[in-house]
Amino acid sequence: MMPAFTQDWIDWIDENVNSGMNKDGIFKILLENGYEHEQIKTQMKHEPAQKIPSQSVGKFHIGKKVVDEKLLPPVISIEGGTRLDTDKAEFYLIENFLNEEECATIIEKIQDHLRPSLMVDHDTKKSSFRTSRTCDMGALNDPFINMIDERICQTIGIDAAFSEAIQGQFYEVGQEFKAHTDFFEKNELPDHDNGYGQRSFTFFIYLNEVEEGGHTDFPMLGVTGVPKIGDALIWNSLNADGSCNYNTLHHGMPVRKGWKAVITKWFRLKSPTKSFDQRLTKTDNEKIKPITDIGFKVEKLDELLHEKILNHYEINEVYKKDETVEGDFITNDEDKAKQAPSTLTNLSARLKKEIHDYLKPKLEEWSGVELEPTFVYGIRTYNEGAKLRAHRDRLDTHIISCIINIYQDVDEDWPLQIDDHHYRTHDIVMQPGDMVFYEGARLQHGREIPLKGRAFANIFCHFKPVNA
Ligand SMILES: [Fe+2]
Ligand SMILES: [Fe+2]
Repeated sequence: MMPAFTQDWIDWIDENVNSGMNKDGIFKILLENGYEHEQIKTQMKHEPAQKIPSQSVGKFHIGKKVVDEKLLPPVISIEGGTRLDTDKAEFYLIENFLNEEECATIIEKIQDHLRPSLMVDHDTKKSSFRTSRTCDMGALNDPFINMIDERICQTIGIDAAFSEAIQGQFYEVGQEFKAHTDFFEKNELPDHDNGYGQRSFTFFIYLNEVEEGGHTDFPMLGVTGVPKIGDALIWNSLNADGSCNYNTLHHGMPVRKGWKAVITKWFRLKSPTKSFDQRLTKTDNEKIKPITDIGFKVEKLDELLHEKILNHYEINEVYKKDETVEGDFITNDEDKAKQAPSTLTNLSARLKKEIHDYLKPKLEEWSGVELEPTFVYGIRTYNEGAKLRAHRDRLDTHIISCIINIYQDVDEDWPLQIDDHHYRTHDIVMQPGDMVFYEGARLQHGREIPLKGRAFANIFCHFKPVNA
């Protein structure tokens, strides 16, 4: 039998019971620490109504404190950015999250809809505390702003239902936001909860370069955010155990010359409309580290190789087979429902090897990593009305890939839609002989507009880093 509870454990039990933690959860942790049922029952004056199944409690044991999992900040991964090397706070920088054009568009919308900024804590709302003007961008119901909002959510990997709408702020000369933290203090939380709970992450984006001043100082972290077009700062206002992290104190310094425009989006621990297990959204594919800057590149296929493949394609026209693709990735427009959306022309082993050998050095140069070929598909011909659902490729083999357009007979361009590393969607129009290099497992891609034309023939060729 375990020795009697030490004072340390007795205090621990009292602290957790008094803070309203689930008694069965406390009971379970004591069991896990070697105490026996009867001992715990006597000490706690509590006995679980039913035997506790091992995974039913939904509590984490951090140090010696039981914490409700739902009060912990989400564990996120930011692939396209850098994490600040400190254990004082979780803090990231993503450079060029938005481009100049996107920033200019947002600035225009902010300027059109400004009102004086309000502070959460009315006691500190002295006229000099926050002197900027604010725009509730969510209220605009603007498709462009909604798209930016969605990209922010995708980048941080938290469902939008666990967030506040984007806010825009505009600071003129002399205006500032004095040192503050973004989380709600205990006394503020009831007024601001609305079913969303505490604030966790802040996603903050500079929209312009300020002529002078306007930096964001984080004195406890020794970090200064310098306004640079499109750069995003992301920080977690909470510690891993859910407590408020005062190291995230920050000061929007006064603008000395020019003006400053920023947008802010706050994430929250809870959602009034979605369940806790819907909070995190990233798939394993999205958690792959980016290899190249943007994620894709358009190149030209060697003309002789193109001719050779085209020749093979024409000779084997009669052997084309209707294609069945797992998971309904390729479908047909409704009025073509009876026809197969795509057909397949096989390649000879020799031609497959030639294509892999030709592409390997080019893709290695582009990606900067040593690659091994994994797979080359035959020639897929999309038929009239075909659509390719947006998807990500296989994690194990399709890390660095290439699409080669061999032949097309179209009435209208049939663009490939592909996301870059910041979830920005691009339309790429390919001509015969064009190749697209892309990070296929990581980046979402598809052709969601039905093909207007009779044929669009592609080869797909896949590689993965050696030893990956
Ligand atoms: Fe703030
Ligand atoms: Fe794909």
